[in-house]
Amino acid sequence: MKRIVLGDNAAVLPTLPRRFARLVYVDPPFNTGKVQARKRIRVQATAGQGTRGGFAGRRYEVEKVASSTYADDFDDYVGFLLPRIEAALRCMTKDASLFVHLDYREVHYVKVALDRLLGRDKFVNEIVWAYDYGGRPKKRWPAKHDTLLWYALDPENYVFDFAAIDRIPYMAPTLVGAEKAARGKTPTDVWWHTIVPTNGHERTGYPTQKPLGVLERLIKVHSARAAPCSTSSPAAAPRARPPRATAAASCSSTTTPTR
Ligand SMILES: C[S@@+](CC[C@H](N)C(=O)[O-])C[C@H]1O[C@@H](n2cnc3c(N)ncnc32)[C@H](O)[C@@H]1O
Repeated sequence: MKRIVLGDNAAVLPTLPRRFARLVYVDPPFNTGKVQARKRIRVQATAGQGTRGGFAGRRYEVEKVASSTYADDFDDYVGFLLPRIEAALRCMTKDASLFVHLDYREVHYVKVALDRLLGRDKFVNEIVWAYDYGGRPKKRWPAKHDTLLWYALDPENYVFDFAAIDRIPYMAPTLVGAEKAARGKTPTDVWWHTIVPTNGHERTGYPTQKPLGVLERLIKVHSARAAPCSTSSPAAAPRARPPRATAAASCSSTTTPTR
């Protein structure tokens, strides 16, 4: 069952069932200090004068479509986010994982706050999503990565389905032999992935939309229990592949029901 609930998650989370979600992905505003908006237009070919010229003298009507916006300016960011994450804990199964998606602005403050809330021993990975798109400032290194903080509620019992990890090509395939090169390798904690292409089919027109590729990897590897997973060695897990989860994107906090 998939449900998208539109509302302030501080009000919604307490109404959700207990212990139903094995994966909680939180993608809050990043505190950019701006109103996040994505201007959208609809372009229609027209036999008339139209407002815009195109290839081979064609004319087009350009219509502004209502754009979605949200405020992204918090005096006390940790005070905004942590109570909401705390409210999500009751919805999580004992073997659940929490992913909090942030950028350089607040990730370090939130990490310290989450260590306090959950315990530092619950922290598993800092995943860097690296993308190389957009402008390049001349006075500092271009900020082209986000960070996902991964916490496991029980560091002895969480889902990491190694067999479900999508593989990436070797940088120097000729050095690893044909079989390995053909199979590819599993990613590290640095995920190179483009942002959502401007005219991509998955584009929803939502400001700061995250690419499905990043979300699907989380869902495939962390939401469905293939076999009891211990911290000893993922390779020990039998290679049975669980049914694949379908991504549920574009809601600020995504919960995937247990199966
Ligand atoms: C970074 S965007 C999420 C983008 C989305 N994950 C995607 O990939 O398209 C952050 C979202 O958090 C929402 N938001 C801000 N405060 C919220 C709150 N208190 N409860 C629920 N959503 C909230 C904003 O409206 C915005 O949609």
